[in-house]
Amino acid sequence: MSTPSARFSRITGTGSFLPPQRVTNAELAEQLARDGIETSDDWIVERTGIRARHFAAPEMASSDLAVQAARHALEAAGRKPEEIDLIIVATSTPDMVFPSTACIVQRKLGAFGGAAFDVQAVCSGFVYGLAVADSMIRTGLASKALVIGSEVFSRILDFKDRTTCVLFGDGAGAVVLEASDQPGVLASELHADGRHVEILCTPGTVSGGKVLGDPLLKMDGQAVFKLAVGVLESAARAVLAKAGRSDADIDWLIPHQANIRIMQGTARKLKMPADKLVVTVDEHGNTSAASIPLALDVAVRKGQVKRGDTVMLEGVGGGFTWGAVLLDF
Ligand code: UT7
Repeated sequence: MSTPSARFSRITGTGSFLPPQRVTNAELAEQLARDGIETSDDWIVERTGIRARHFAAPEMASSDLAVQAARHALEAAGRKPEEIDLIIVATSTPDMVFPSTACIVQRKLGAFGGAAFDVQAVCSGFVYGLAVADSMIRTGLASKALVIGSEVFSRILDFKDRTTCVLFGDGAGAVVLEASDQPGVLASELHADGRHVEILCTPGTVSGGKVLGDPLLKMDGQAVFKLAVGVLESAARAVLAKAGRSDADIDWLIPHQANIRIMQGTARKLKMPADKLVVTVDEHGNTSAASIPLALDVAVRKGQVKRGDTVMLEGVGGGFTWGAVLLDF
């Protein structure tokens, strides 16, 4: 009797989409000044590394950005929408309370019949979604998945709060993840600590036909910063140990793009040279669940990340949530 061959998952295509409106720090500062809110390009660049972000037009929903990113990923993978049997959308800015943005994406793509659901893990959402899709593929529950991170964070920003509104942007990134007899995804780590719900949240909810509570983003930046630095190192070390690899094996580090100082700190702890750190926060701002697949796609299309390279993806954000996926691209 022959033993069945091992089943892994592997990324076969990446894609991304940014809404056309690009807003520089200077333009945003000018807009905020009209409401008496003071900020500057210098402060934003020095504290975060952000120089610009993209904002979606009012009629554009997360599903619209997701569909564009998904089409690019499908094209790169040489796949048609009808071949996809799993769609996971990581988002904290869904089109509706329900159904899931993934179902809306499925309809817009014309990829009917497979499973479709959203993952809500804020800025760790893409890493969560990728780890879930990998598990589903390895157990035979799916064979060709679209994993998408898509956000319109501009909708939940408080433009009277300079400590948060300068940080975030809109966008989407996607990967096609397929069953393969070669890995692919080598190991994953997912974590949460719900004791820290309040440090990064959008506390409003819908009840009785009204929005109850404040539906705008709140963040204790310093508390998030401190937690992020610690967990990004521990998640990276844990996933390397699980995969039987070491720091030296990582070709590219693609952390959640929130703040250049956090990203560079993580790279230093992993003894990685600065040119192995993929940086898009300067041009995208923090796009929450979209930031990692957006950065991955930019790096692939620039010719940085190549087939066979070992890539560390790391997410961290509201929940408090964090996680890492180590993969051979
Ligand atoms: O996506 C999920 C993960 N999120 C993150 O990883 C975010 C983590 N946190 C951070 O990235 C940083 O904490 C921030 C970028 C949010 C803030 O940087 P910071 O170096 O921690 O600054 P701070 O909060 O200590 O503020 C320093 C000063 C304060 O003024 P005083 O008290 O020193 O007079 C703030 O009021 O900067 C002031 N400030 C600003 N000034 C100009 C805060 N926001 C602004 C602003 N423009 N936009």
